[in-house]
Amino acid sequence: MNGSRPPENMPPQAPSAQREGIAGWVDRRLPVISGFRKEYIDFPMPRNLNGLWNFGAILCAVLVIMLASGIFLAMNYTPTTAGAFASVEMIERQLPGGWMLRAIHVTGASLFMAALYIHLFRGLYYGSYKQPREILWLSGLGLLLLTMVTAFAGYVLPWGQMSYWGADVAGKAVGAVPLIGPTLEHVMEGSDQLGDIFIHRFFVLHFLLAFTIVAIVVLHVAALHVPGPNNPTGRPVPARETVPFHPYYTTKDLTGIVLFALVFVALAFLWPGLLSEPANYRPANPMHTPADIEPEWYFLPFYGMLQSVPSKFGGLVASAGAVLILFAVPWLDRSPIRSARFRPACRIGLAGLVVAFVLMGLVGRHHAAGGWMTVGRLATLYYFGYFLVLLPLCARREMRGPAA
Ligand code: HEM
Repeated sequence: MNGSRPPENMPPQAPSAQREGIAGWVDRRLPVISGFRKEYIDFPMPRNLNGLWNFGAILCAVLVIMLASGIFLAMNYTPTTAGAFASVEMIERQLPGGWMLRAIHVTGASLFMAALYIHLFRGLYYGSYKQPREILWLSGLGLLLLTMVTAFAGYVLPWGQMSYWGADVAGKAVGAVPLIGPTLEHVMEGSDQLGDIFIHRFFVLHFLLAFTIVAIVVLHVAALHVPGPNNPTGRPVPARETVPFHPYYTTKDLTGIVLFALVFVALAFLWPGLLSEPANYRPANPMHTPADIEPEWYFLPFYGMLQSVPSKFGGLVASAGAVLILFAVPWLDRSPIRSARFRPACRIGLAGLVVAFVLMGLVGRHHAAGGWMTVGRLATLYYFGYFLVLLPLCARREMRGPAA
């Protein structure tokens, strides 16, 4: 699509020089108003975008809610081993509206990750990572990594049993890196045992990364505005098939946000226990290892991989590699056809990828024991096989056919 030329059905843009009053004065010096008009209100959007294109806006809305609730939580949280659990209890039981702040923040973290997975899968399905959107894709993956680290750091903060033992498992996994592992583990934990330095470090990291995510989102959206959005067909959209962002996509995005908010509210206020781990409502006890140490649901597929590979370091390489391989996707898939809508083999392969991802999550849940170990290994093999073998092979075959 042509991102720079406005379609015929849009009103002509008012040049900043013609604006009156203070707005005109400011805009002639710093074109924020005309820039906003050009990049949002009048921005030409393909008119065939489906509901999966709502998730970027949903992610932005949840991000704002996470920052707002997080700031108020941070004002009442104590980052020490002695005070962390008690301060979270105080927020839940004594701080006016504190229970609500916490329910929003905890549910928001889970739903942010869920929306992120859907958003990422949309990109994989419609080939939105392909030229000229590679930087958009890479910045998205930067956001995924930052969000994962932020979510993990946040989970440590209440200093419950799962916070402590989850951090212990992560520390040991980092420690398994040959040569530099023990140093890395020491840098991460701050001392020989998980204590005040560790909590303090993770509190700062959690706070800092949350704002770094906002900065990268700005770059991500700026990278989207250069080529404009992809669309379900993957083909360039002529100007006559575009509509201005406002009012068409403001109303569509708002509808998506409201529907998502209904799920959010139901989970936060009607089923608050559904997404949280009961063991984390017990204070951390370094003398008592829980029977089941498992991360939040959104890390389970990676945890399943970590356990399925026989060596500790091999497991770490596999689970980190599962995210890192996504960075290479624009170069692994050289097919001229973008959307999986016109790529039957790729569509079946992608369905298999979703099944493998879910299976790996189940393996994580069942601790890769017995038959689950075999399932975990097969799913891990398929996951990497899809990106390293299936996708390049499909692309090679399609390169010989006509472009779509
Ligand atoms: C903090 C997390 C993120 C936020 C707030 C965010 C926000 C957005 C927004 C607002 C859009 C435009 C609307 C839409 O297409 O849905 C977008 C598009 C896009 N995002 Fe993200 N994003 C995030 C993470 C990611 C991740 C993890 C990826 C995957 C690598 C990604 C890849 C993309 C791509 C490829 C597009 C263009 C889609 C297309 O036009 O087909 N984003 N993002």
